[in-house]
Amino acid sequence: MNKHAIEIQKLYYGFPVILVSFYNRAGIPNLATLSSSFSLGNMICLGFGRGGHAIGAIREVGQFVVNVPDRNLMEAIEICGYSSGAEHDKFALSGLTPVDAVQVKAPLVAECPISLECEVSHLDEEGGYVIVVGSIVQRHIATTLLDDQLHLKNEAVDPVYFVGDHHDRAYRYLAQQQADQKGTFLPARNDVVWR
Ligand SMILES: Cc1cc2nc3c(=O)[nH]c(=O)nc-3n(C[C@H](O)[C@H](O)[C@H](O)COP(=O)(O)O)c2cc1C
Repeated sequence: MNKHAIEIQKLYYGFPVILVSFYNRAGIPNLATLSSSFSLGNMICLGFGRGGHAIGAIREVGQFVVNVPDRNLMEAIEICGYSSGAEHDKFALSGLTPVDAVQVKAPLVAECPISLECEVSHLDEEGGYVIVVGSIVQRHIATTLLDDQLHLKNEAVDPVYFVGDHHDRAYRYLAQQQADQKGTFLPARNDVVWR
């Protein structure tokens, strides 16, 4: 594969868009669009630009919800990513509905098929960014994404991916109802035990 070694400031190689919701110190619900996250087990890590309303509130209250929207919520994704909670009630602006969480003091977004209740366990600053390490304490998954044994229907999950570089960024969507099971592509080998 031929490659260019290039100097670019940004490369988003495909990150699921999330809506992070919270109550501020006055108990007002709000939310912000993010693409910077990863999760392992019950740990979740989010990256915020310094100075936004959402990170200011989450720093104070220590609790938040990570909501995973699907392609039906593109307008809300952009409204919550192109406005600040310092000036707007983004639930009202986007038409999304806040619903009380079970374990944490933060609102779930009713319209999102996946919501993760989280508590801040660690907060760090790196360059112009605030890194929030959270602990997932409760997961909510739409019944349409679960089979009759309450296992995730992998082929039904429909996240929106954020991709691009400094020049241009865009949303990408998964082929619907298509998934290959983990381990499907391992070649048969007598000399290797796949773990
Ligand atoms: C698709 C998309 C992805 C975004 N990802 C991030 C992100 O990962 N981190 C971040 O701090 N801001 C991100 N933003 C920008 C924030 O959503 C935006 O700055 C917003 O106005 C912050 O609102 P707040 O002031 O209420 O916190 C993203 C925006 C969009 C549209």
